[in-house]
Order: sequence, then structure tokens, then C-alpha cells
Amino acid sequence: MNHVTKEQRKQAKQSVFPFSLFGVLFLVLLLMSGIHQGFLVLASRQKWNGLVQIIIPVIYWVLIALGLTAYTRWRIKKSYEEPMQMLARATAQVADGDFSVYVPPLHTADKLDYIDIMFIDFNKMVEELGSIETLKTDFFSNVTHEIKTPLAIIQNYAELLNREDLSVEKRMEYTQNILQATQRLSGLITNMLKLNKLEKQAIQPQPQPFDVCAQLCECALQFEELWEKKEIELEVDMDERVIISADEQLLELVWTNLLSNAMKFTPAGGTVAITQTTEEGSVVVTVSDTGCGMDEETMKHIFEKFYQGDTSHATEGNGLGLALVQRILQMSDGSITAASEPGKGTAFTVRLPLAPVGEGLE
Ligand SMILES: Nc1ncnc2c1ncn2[C@@H]1O[C@H](COP(=O)(O)OP(=O)(O)O)[C@@H](O)[C@H]1O
Ligand SMILES: [Mg+2]
Repeated sequence: MNHVTKEQRKQAKQSVFPFSLFGVLFLVLLLMSGIHQGFLVLASRQKWNGLVQIIIPVIYWVLIALGLTAYTRWRIKKSYEEPMQMLARATAQVADGDFSVYVPPLHTADKLDYIDIMFIDFNKMVEELGSIETLKTDFFSNVTHEIKTPLAIIQNYAELLNREDLSVEKRMEYTQNILQATQRLSGLITNMLKLNKLEKQAIQPQPQPFDVCAQLCECALQFEELWEKKEIELEVDMDERVIISADEQLLELVWTNLLSNAMKFTPAGGTVAITQTTEEGSVVVTVSDTGCGMDEETMKHIFEKFYQGDTSHATEGNGLGLALVQRILQMSDGSITAASEPGKGTAFTVRLPLAPVGEGLE
């Protein structure tokens, strides 16, 4: 159990020592004193001797007092003290930086009291804290690394440029390298800002009906120069017109990121294919390539921020592309899956809901 519904919160018992418990104690005492009275009557009728008449009630009340005290102590310990001690130990562990603690609730889901709810909330809080903590550390080291590399390049070439005896070619080469590094830096910052805005939901998708096929063609054309240079064959197989309702600008980022990856990871002479079909109310777009592919271990991480599987291409891009793509699709009710075989190629399949009937373009 790691989540409390509103209903459970409302129905949870608000006291572990309810009024009825004291009612029962009161009744027990009343009954006991009744028995005491009965004993007195019996003793005077039977004419028991005085010592017995005194000793028996004393022993009787001592036993009752012991019983009730022990019971009350046991109730307090079971329903309050032990849970609180458990929580105290867990809190101390969290304070020491161990986020793996879990305090099990004491009752089943249908008999929760406020202490159980507190435990469940506590567990959830600790889990969140733990994931924020790892995210923060990873993010920090990733960003620092991504910024440091191009900065070192800029610094190096700027120092080289400072020399007086440079040929024009060298000067141009160094300047070119500096320019590339600054482009990488600004690309990184743009991507980080976009991702951050999307994650904070500062950018809300603005769904509007548009033709995805036209958009796919336009995006593919942006890579014309690249595929001609790398002699990559582009195969396109799609309908003439398919209307979906989504944020056009955000979806453009999806296609350009997938296509740029396909082009990047496919060697000269390879093929990149865009296929589009419609099925059961959704449009399915597949971007596949005959590139280097990925092994299973890489596949597990490709949607993580800053993850780059293939280090030989690490200078291009910064590992934010697919994280951005996945985030956009999540926000657009879409999904993305990847299939890949090392050495053979990769296919990314995107599914998006079709625009409702009647919502079309004029
Ligand atoms: N078409 C592809 N073929 C092979 N590997 C891919 C492909 N697309 C993505 N990858 C893998 O996924 C990783 C993450 O991709 P992405 O988030 O776009 O970052 P980047 O392109 O900056 O490396 C890449 O580094 C690569 O290892
Ligand atoms: Mg990429």
C-alpha cells in the first residue's frame, strides 16, 4: 500500500483510544463492584469470619487493579507507543540520508486509522525525497560535464588563435571549432530550458487539428542536405492526409529529434524510412533506420535525460532529445516505443490519437 485514496482518508479512524474503550472499562468496573457487593451479602448470610471477609475483597481488588492496569498499558503500547517508536527509528534513518526505509501500516486497507495514514504518507514522502535526491545529483554532474567539455574546447582554440604566426587556414579551422562548441552549448541550454518548461507544465500543449503527413514531409525536407551529403536513402510511405489534434510545434520537435537520431546513427549508404498508418483511432508513425542499432542495456536508458549510448557520437547532441520526445508525447496522450537490433538498425514507433470525427481542416 503506497497511496491513500480520499475515501480512505475520510473513513480512517480518528482515534486509537476511542470513547467506547473507556465505556467498556467503566462497565467492567461496575460489574466488578457488583460482584463485590454480592460477595458481601453472601458473607454476612453464611456468617464467614471477619478475617476472610477482609482478605478476599482485598485480593479481589488487587487482581482487578493489576488486570486493568496491565490491559491499559498493553493497549497504549500496541496502538501508540510501538508505532511511534517505529516511526522515530525510520525518521532517524532518513535524517541520516537513507531513503530506502519503509514503515508498514499496521492495519489492512479497510481498517486504517490516522496512524496508518501517517505511515503511508511518510513512505510516500521518503520515496519522493529519495528520487529528488538522486535526480539532483545526477543532473548536476551531467550538466557540469556537458558545459565543461565545450568550454574547454573554446578555451583551447582561443589560446591557439592568440598566436601571431598563424596561417589563414589554421585561423579559419580554429574559429570553426570555437563556433561549433558555442553552438553545442547554446543547443544544450535551449534543450534544457524546453525540457524544464515542459516538466513544470509551464508549456501546456495547444492542441489544434492539423495534417501530420504534411508535417512529416516538411520535417524530412529539413534534413535533405544531410541525407544527400551522407548518401542516405530516404523512404517515405504514408497516407495523403491524416488529421490529428495536437500541438503542432511540439510535435515538430518529436519528428526532428527522431529523424536527426536516425540520420546520425546511420552510416553512409544506409536507409532511413518514415512509415505512417492509421489503426483503431490512432495514427502510427514509425521512423526506422539501418544504422548501428542498440543493445538491450542501452535501450533501457535512452529516454533518460543526458543519456548517450553511443559515445562515438557524443559530440553531437546532449542526450536530451529522446527525453524531450517522450515528455511531449506523454503530454499529448501519445506514446513511443523503440525496437532495435545491434548492427541492423532501429525503429521508433509513435502513436497519437486521431482528431475526433468532424474536427478537420477546411
Ligand atoms: N536511431 C538510433 N539508432 C541507434 N541508437 C539510437 C537511435 N536513436 C537514439 N539512439 C540512442 O539513444 C541515445 C539517446 O538519444 P538522444 O536522447 O536523442 O540523445 P543524443 O542524440 O543527444 O545522443 C543516443 O545516444 C543513442 O545511443
Ligand atoms: Mg538526439
